[in-house]
Amino acid sequence: MKRAFLIVVVLFILIQFIQVDKNNPKTDPNLEVKAPKAVMNILKRSCYDCHSNKTIWPWYSYIAPVSWSVKRHVHDGRRWVNFSIWNKYTKTEKKKKLNKMYKAVYAAMPIRSYKLIHRNSKLSPKDIQTLRAWIYKLE
Ligand code: HEC
Repeated sequence: MKRAFLIVVVLFILIQFIQVDKNNPKTDPNLEVKAPKAVMNILKRSCYDCHSNKTIWPWYSYIAPVSWSVKRHVHDGRRWVNFSIWNKYTKTEKKKKLNKMYKAVYAAMPIRSYKLIHRNSKLSPKDIQTLRAWIYKLE
């Protein structure tokens, strides 16, 4: 028993040496999405940590294996839609992303584990309305 515990502790310490890359890529500010302030506030509060190059890396992103999961979310999130490079997308791409966003804001986004920790990231009915009105106009 004691030995098994020791192995777990040693493994935990060892995996701490596998750190994830937490550098935010530098991007041209002109490429960032432009939207009314009310919309930007919601995006920055609830989406930017995973869907922009302005991720604020939390303290637990320094602790393996949680850090690996955080990195994965940011990596996958940026791939789906990255608001820092919004103007690089073609018209068709934007349309597709907006379409998905219209659905995702209803329940799927932000992802559940994130909402649990970042309580204020949860979208209120009013936030959803604000985002959808903005999306609707652009679509
Ligand atoms: C904690 C990280 C995180 C946050 C915060 C977050 N997302 Fe995501 N998002 C992801 C990941 C990861 C995916 C990739 C798909 C998946 O694994 O579910 C994704 C996928 C998406 C997709 C594509 C979904 C689809 O149907 O294909 C949209 C649209 C999206 N996010 C919008 C948003 C919006 C809008 C917000 C803010 C209200 C937000 N996300 C907040 C991590 C996040």
